[in-house]
Amino acid sequence: MTSSERDFWDAEAATFDDEPDHGLRDPQVHDAWRNLLVGLTPPAPARIADLGCGTGTLALLLAEEGHRVDGIDLSPEMVRRASAKAGTFPGVGFVVGDAGEPPFATGAYEVVLCRHVLWALPDPEAAVARWMDLLTPTGRIRLIEGQWSTGTGLTAERTTALVEEAGLTASVRLLPDTVYWGKRIDDERYVVVGRRRP
Ligand SMILES: C[S@@+](CC[C@H](N)C(=O)[O-])C[C@H]1O[C@@H](n2cnc3c(N)ncnc32)[C@H](O)[C@@H]1O
Repeated sequence: MTSSERDFWDAEAATFDDEPDHGLRDPQVHDAWRNLLVGLTPPAPARIADLGCGTGTLALLLAEEGHRVDGIDLSPEMVRRASAKAGTFPGVGFVVGDAGEPPFATGAYEVVLCRHVLWALPDPEAAVARWMDLLTPTGRIRLIEGQWSTGTGLTAERTTALVEEAGLTASVRLLPDTVYWGKRIDDERYVVVGRRRP
């Protein structure tokens, strides 16, 4: 994590929630993400780590479903906004730090969730390996990523390989539906689900 990355994301924070999939202000978009995330998480209450949590929208949504969520982000301004958004809502908290090496308890999380962050980490292999340590024996990883038309991102194939190389069984679900993004998309967006091998 560099100071220029931190400055970049601090500057993005004020308008971050303007994107439909970030702020989830449209009820249809909100419900689509809610349904997706509920389907990706065990019954509440589960302990969830949201790595690179941004303005905390997903973390709060999951807390509203009854989960206990710890969010981390390198941007103090993102974390400030996430904390303000959550207010006194129980079961959700945010810290400033590096998602690649989260200072979270080992073996404590049933879900490690990361949306649109892995692609930006300098060493994705090391990050996923560290995230494995956070999981309970039945824990699982949920990586929502994309290979965007801007040319940035990770392909589903690459993300699947990262999860498999970390020792998990991985599967991909593509997310092409307009309802997730508030617009039509023509690039590759997906969630990779990783679970421990039996
Ligand atoms: C595209 S946003 C995604 C935010 C959130 N996960 C979401 O889906 O709404 C990327 C976020 O990752 C954060 N980020 C980037 N690199 C990070 C790192 N090394 N550690 C922690 N957060 C990081 C940025 O500050 C930003 O909030």
